[in-house]
Amino acid sequence: MIEVKNLKKTYDVKRRDGLFKSHRETIEAVKDISMRIDAGQIVGLLGINGAGKTTTIKMLTTLIEPTSGTYSFDGMDAIVHPAEVKKQINMIAGGERMIYWRLSAYENLWYYGQLYGIDNSVLKQRIENLLKMVGLQDKANLPVETFSKGMKQRLQIARGLINDPKYIFLDEPTIGLDAVVTRELHDEIKSLAKVKEKGILLTSHYLSEVEELCDYIYLVNNGELIVEGTKKDLTDFVFLRNQYVFSTKGMDKNVYNGLKRHVRNVDNDAEILFENGKAMITSNVELSTILAGFAIQESLTIVELHKMEPSLEQAMIKLSKDMKKEAEREILYKSLVG
Ligand SMILES: Nc1ncnc2c1ncn2[C@@H]1O[C@H](COP(=O)(O)OP(=O)(O)O)[C@@H](O)[C@H]1O
Ligand SMILES: [Mg+2]
Repeated sequence: MIEVKNLKKTYDVKRRDGLFKSHRETIEAVKDISMRIDAGQIVGLLGINGAGKTTTIKMLTTLIEPTSGTYSFDGMDAIVHPAEVKKQINMIAGGERMIYWRLSAYENLWYYGQLYGIDNSVLKQRIENLLKMVGLQDKANLPVETFSKGMKQRLQIARGLINDPKYIFLDEPTIGLDAVVTRELHDEIKSLAKVKEKGILLTSHYLSEVEELCDYIYLVNNGELIVEGTKKDLTDFVFLRNQYVFSTKGMDKNVYNGLKRHVRNVDNDAEILFENGKAMITSNVELSTILAGFAIQESLTIVELHKMEPSLEQAMIKLSKDMKKEAEREILYKSLVG
């Protein structure tokens, strides 16, 4: 088990104020993050750009040392023994980073295996097994530059497993990958955790990716943990379900009020907003046919009806509103009970 507590990372940077003036500034890339990763588990670190995900993953992979906080790696102090940790972890990159185009698949794996100081005969056997596992055994001796994107990604996976790591880290693994390669990588990540019992941490700013893959999720913002939990725990306030934009010809206050009643009949908790002549609806219920049904019943022509992809930005906004409400409730409660 990997466990970090109150991780913090600050950077001292020099900021220019003008031609001859500058001042020192402390940037808190990570302020306070605690998390754990167990074998066989896929843990997600979810956050918008600049939230502190990469900095956290760099501390966990011992590439950088935390400014403060503790890091226990299978019971060992990882900050004191980074070299021991490095032997038992690896990273899998998305796309084409960290592989050498001119070298063959075999040579790439051999090179990385040498870096880990793996015994030649063990390494030879391991490379053969890995190439078989990712379906590249017939392409082992071709230069990587002749590979398709999917093949390069599969080589990345083999590379990430060259030292038979216990824990695997992936920093925004699917950025820039097409849908097919993304799907393949997602399946591989799942099988590494569920079949091979690896502990996996992946960072992402895609709600859907984290939702699909992760057993446990940490949501970070501004270098701090906002919420954590299983997908089920977080569904109500992070994975905003079913958001719709709906408008009809001549949509006025009357139509809007009728729509509101119609939707509330199906889902009493639905949120409905009227903006720029359109209704924005958030609900836990699938409403596409309900909304279409409303238009038919009222003989209205639909101008727009679509379901939106939930975005992390929206989730964050909703979450901060919920947290504000919660804080207000707390204050009210305290003032009542004294
Ligand atoms: N080496 C560094 N020096 C100064 N600031 C940094 C450094 N690395 C990261 N930061 C800052 O820390 C914050 C978090 O960055 P990062 O961990 O890369 O976020 P994420 O991966 O979630 O996008 C950002 O504001 C970034 O500019
Ligand atoms: Mg990053």
